[in-house]
Amino acid sequence: MNDINVVLCGDSAEVLRQYPDGFFDSVVCDPPYGLSKEPNITEVLTKWIAGETYDHGNGGFMSKSWDSFVPHPDLWREVFRVLKPGGHALVFAGTRTQDLMTIAMRLGGFEIRDVIEWLYFSGFPKSMDVGKAFDKRAGIQGERVEAEGVGFMNAEGKGGYNVTSHRILMPERQTELARKWDGWGTALKPAHEPIIVARKPLAGTVAETVEKYGTGAINIDGCRIGRAAGDRTEYGNYLTAPSSLTDNV
Ligand SMILES: C[S@@+](CC[C@H](N)C(=O)[O-])C[C@H]1O[C@@H](n2cnc3c(N)ncnc32)[C@H](O)[C@@H]1O
Repeated sequence: MNDINVVLCGDSAEVLRQYPDGFFDSVVCDPPYGLSKEPNITEVLTKWIAGETYDHGNGGFMSKSWDSFVPHPDLWREVFRVLKPGGHALVFAGTRTQDLMTIAMRLGGFEIRDVIEWLYFSGFPKSMDVGKAFDKRAGIQGERVEAEGVGFMNAEGKGGYNVTSHRILMPERQTELARKWDGWGTALKPAHEPIIVARKPLAGTVAETVEKYGTGAINIDGCRIGRAAGDRTEYGNYLTAPSSLTDNV
């Protein structure tokens, strides 16, 4: 098993079972976020702590059953088993279910080290317009118009533009409640996704683990953003701030 850059297709629980303990150096994955109905957290934790499976039903994002819930602790235990001691795992998660992902990973044996944030500006808010909702409830009809450039996101999270879609154009807010709550919504524009940084516990000290397994540490210098000649350097001035800025500190 010395192949590199091999793609194995299959259910990760089954594929991982084929590997011996401590085989992999690290894990990077984008597992299901479980963005479906709010779970009963007491039931989830009770089952997970008892080592039982929690069944959340089948209604995941875009009706995909695989997406209905985050991977359970038993899957993370398997990821943990195949990692070398000190091996890192970078795990994407949903903003509103990262707590579940993190707890499942902790129960699988991982220690949580940090969170990286992937920031982006292309997300489309799925917020309910509260003012509009009051007018709709009062029976005020909008006009159905063709809308060019309406964004969508498919089950794999890929976005795009649907030029033939329609949207409902509502007139100015009519009812008193609609005017009072105009501009209020229910959701923020999606703009970040957390990446949980976890680690399988070390085997001894950092130095011992790095020496024996080549894991346990992060190549910080290898990830620095380089600076070319001519790049702005003003930020460096904070290191030698003028005394007028530091006198009162
Ligand atoms: C959040 S999506 C990741 C999308 C991917 N990063 C991309 O950009 O296309 C989760 C993925 O996990 C896959 N998946 C769900 N359950 C799985 C399982 N038990 N074993 C392997 N893959 C699974 C789904 O098919 C889906 O593609």
